[in-house]
Amino acid sequence: MKVPFLDLKAQYASIKEEITSALQQVLDNTAFAGGPFVGQFEKDFASFCQCEFAIGVGSGTDALWMALLSLGIGPGDEVITTPNTFIATAEAISFCGAKPVFVDVDEKTYNMNPDLLESVINAKTKAIIPVHLFGQMSDMHRIMEIARAHELSVVEDACQAHGAEYKGKRSGSIGDVGCFSFYPGKNLGAYGEAGAIVTNNAKLAEKMRMFRDHGQRTKYYHSIVGWNARMDGFQGAILGVKLKHLATWNDARRKNAQLYDSLLADVDDIITPVQADYGRHVYHVYAIRTRNRDELISALAEKDIFCGIHYPVPIHLQDAYKFLGYKKGSFPVAEKCAGEFVSLPMFAELSKEQINKVCYEIKCFLEVKV
Ligand SMILES: Cc1ncc(COP(=O)(O)O)c(C=O)c1O
Repeated sequence: MKVPFLDLKAQYASIKEEITSALQQVLDNTAFAGGPFVGQFEKDFASFCQCEFAIGVGSGTDALWMALLSLGIGPGDEVITTPNTFIATAEAISFCGAKPVFVDVDEKTYNMNPDLLESVINAKTKAIIPVHLFGQMSDMHRIMEIARAHELSVVEDACQAHGAEYKGKRSGSIGDVGCFSFYPGKNLGAYGEAGAIVTNNAKLAEKMRMFRDHGQRTKYYHSIVGWNARMDGFQGAILGVKLKHLATWNDARRKNAQLYDSLLADVDDIITPVQADYGRHVYHVYAIRTRNRDELISALAEKDIFCGIHYPVPIHLQDAYKFLGYKKGSFPVAEKCAGEFVSLPMFAELSKEQINKVCYEIKCFLEVKV
């Protein structure tokens, strides 16, 4: 029995007819760029996120970039985020001309440690981007308190956290803006590239809508210098179909995580993910930590079990960000985790037998009695 890291074909097979019909409707309406299918998805996704507005864009990277531009972030500004994220979080800051400033993460949730925030806030700081890593929200109450005290904007990087909750509030609904990626492997994934920005602020929504569409409200009348970051019609229609299944898929991921938790509990040398008491984790990634990470991944691959690493090198140690001047040791928790993380297979359609096999082989590798 093979256990892939991700099985997009299994999900597609379960919704094939709905998808085919949605695609046919886009073709029949020739609604390829923006248009009614994107508009309907925006309405539905805003409501799913407990927000008033959603703006469909080309990717999660676009979402972060357009959000920061709309908040007026530019050259000379600093934006605080965490180093153990996908590089897009930092790239969006850089592409506004601003400087990414990192703070270390909490060792239990792997999210921004709010205790460290105030030490890096200065006169240049304009915004904070908490990243809801692996599908679990950051400690938003503490982050918002600090942000408000210093008059900083908050952009939630919810690219891995569709439907995650913090004290009953959905990801994206607490900060000034929430940004989502619909990269195919995400809990809500497009069949291509797509993203969305959500907000309850009408002025910001209007600005973001303009930025993603060449700075225009009316075709060919450009009030600001914008960009083409529109969502395409096929992705809008596909995401509209898939959004209806997201709650069920997230529940299935949570069940799978519980089974992993129970089978790997009390295994020495394995740290399983912790769901913070404030939240509802949606397990985009189920990452364990272990000391012999690379050997474990190779041993599992020999048994047809395929894992990932999210992420092997924290952003401050990437060549692209050397110029910021951080060193090894700047963020000890993020660095330690980067050397220990193993992302186990995780998707809604994963079977009990597959999870049993993964845990059995992990225990065999660690020479735990099974
Ligand atoms: C935390 C995080 N931020 C931003 C992004 C960027 O999203 P996209 O790949 O859709 O541009 C991703 C996607 O992997 C992500 O995981």
